[in-house]
Amino acid sequence: MGSVSEDTMSRKQTCQHNQIKHKLIILLFIVLTNLVTIYIFTSPHSIFQLYRISTNSQLSTRDEELIASRSQISDLRKELKSARSLIEELINQLSQLNGAIDRTPDPSYNDLLDALSDEAKLAIGPHKLPLGHTPRMGDDIYLSVGGGCLRQKQDLDKYMSYQVGGECPVDDVFAQTLMLRGCEPLPRRRCHPKSPANYVEPTPLPKSLWSTPPDSSLIWDPYTCKNYRCLIERRKAPGSYDCKDCFDLEGREKTRWLFDSGALDYGIDQVLAMKPHGTIRIGLDIGGGSGSFAARMKERNVTIVTTSMNFDGPFNSFISSRGLISMHVSISQRFPFFENTLDIVHSMHVLSNWIPDAMLEFTLYDIYRVLRPGGLFWLDRFFCFGSQLNSTYVPMFDRVGFRKLRWNTGMKLDRGVEKNEWYFSALLEKPMT
Ligand SMILES: *[C@@H]1O[C@H](CO)[C@@H](O)[C@H](O)[C@H]1NC(C)=O
Ligand SMILES: *[C@@H]1O[C@H](CO)[C@@H](O)[C@H](O)[C@H]1NC(C)=O
Repeated sequence: MGSVSEDTMSRKQTCQHNQIKHKLIILLFIVLTNLVTIYIFTSPHSIFQLYRISTNSQLSTRDEELIASRSQISDLRKELKSARSLIEELINQLSQLNGAIDRTPDPSYNDLLDALSDEAKLAIGPHKLPLGHTPRMGDDIYLSVGGGCLRQKQDLDKYMSYQVGGECPVDDVFAQTLMLRGCEPLPRRRCHPKSPANYVEPTPLPKSLWSTPPDSSLIWDPYTCKNYRCLIERRKAPGSYDCKDCFDLEGREKTRWLFDSGALDYGIDQVLAMKPHGTIRIGLDIGGGSGSFAARMKERNVTIVTTSMNFDGPFNSFISSRGLISMHVSISQRFPFFENTLDIVHSMHVLSNWIPDAMLEFTLYDIYRVLRPGGLFWLDRFFCFGSQLNSTYVPMFDRVGFRKLRWNTGMKLDRGVEKNEWYFSALLEKPMT
C-alpha cells in the first residue's frame, strides 16, 4: 500500500473517530437527562416522593397501594443503576477514542515504516491490540526502538535479514555500530543467537567472582583475540584498546578500590563508611569494564548492575560469567531505573571530556534522578584539560545540585604537565530534601 493512500486512510479514520465521538456525546446527553428525571422521581428526598407518601397515608391506609408504590420505586432504582453503568461504559469508550485520536502517528513516521522490510516492520509495529484491553496504550502498540533505527534504513534491514526461526548471523560488532548511531534499543529478532559449542556449567559463587571463564563459554568470531589468554596478555601489547588490562583478574583488577590514596583514588570501604552500615545496598556502575567494581561490592553485600559495551572484547559475557549482572547499553540511553531508587552510582574513566557538554549535563541530571535522596555518586577519574576544569565542569556539577562530600583533582602523571591534562574524582551526594 502506498504512503499517500495510507495518509488519506488515517485522515479518514480521524474523521470517523470524530463522528463517533459526537454521536457518543449526544447519547451521553440523552442518558444524562433521563437520569435526572429518574432521580427526581425516585430519590427519598425528592418533594414528589414525600408528597406522594403523605397524600397516600392521608387518603387511605390501604397496604396494597403502599406495596405497589414501593415496588415501583425499586423498579426505578434498578433502571437508575443500569443507566449509571451505561454512562460508565460510554465514558470509558470516549476516553479510549480520545487516546486513539491523540496517538495517531505523524504521517512521516508511516512513510519511514513503509520503506522498511517486512520483518523490520513486523518487529517495530504498530500491532492492533485486542478489543476490550485496558486503554492504557491506545488501540495500537508500538515497540520501542531507538530513533536512529529509522534513519538507517539499509542497515536496519540488513540487521533484520535472517531466516525466521533459524540461527541469527554473528553480527555483534555490526549491531553495536547500529546502537552507537542511535538505534538503541535495537529491535527484537525472530532468530536464535549462535550457541557456544562446548558450553560448561558456570563456576559457582563466590569463586566465579575472580575466575576467568573457560574459552568454551563464548563465541569468539567477532574479536581479534580468540581466547581469554590473548585478552589478558593484551595489557602488555602495544595499541590502545578499551579497558586494556580489565581481563587480567590477577593484575590491577585485584587491587582496584581496596585502598584509598587520599587523592584521586578512593577505597570502597572508605566510601561505604560515609553512610550508616548497610544502607548502601543497590546501585549502578556505568561503563564498568569487566565488572570488578560489582564483584568487590558483592563481597560487601551490595548489588551492582554493570553497564558495558563490547568494545574490542566480550565484556558483557565476561561480567555475567563472574556471576554479576551486565547490561549492554551505551551512555546515550536514559537509565532504565525509576527516580529515587538507587543508593549508589559509580563510573570510572567513561564520563570524561569526550562527551559533548550538553549531553554530559543531561547524563548528570539522569544520575541525580535515579539516585535516592542521600544516595552517592562516585565519579572516578574524570579526564579533562586544566582549562576546562574550573570553567566548564565545576560549574556544571554545581548546577545539577549535588552536594560535594569529596573533590580531588590531580594532573595526569605521564604527560599532564606538558599538555595540561587533569583528572578529577568526586564523591557527590544527592541532597536529602
Ligand atoms: C553479607 O551477608 C551475609 C549473609 O547475610 C553475612 O553473613 C555477611 O557477614 C555479610 N557480609 C558483609 C561484608 O557484610
Ligand atoms: C581551579 O580553581 C581552584 C580554586 O579556585 C584553583 O586552586 C585551581 O588551581 C584551579 N585549577 C585549574 C586546573 O586551573
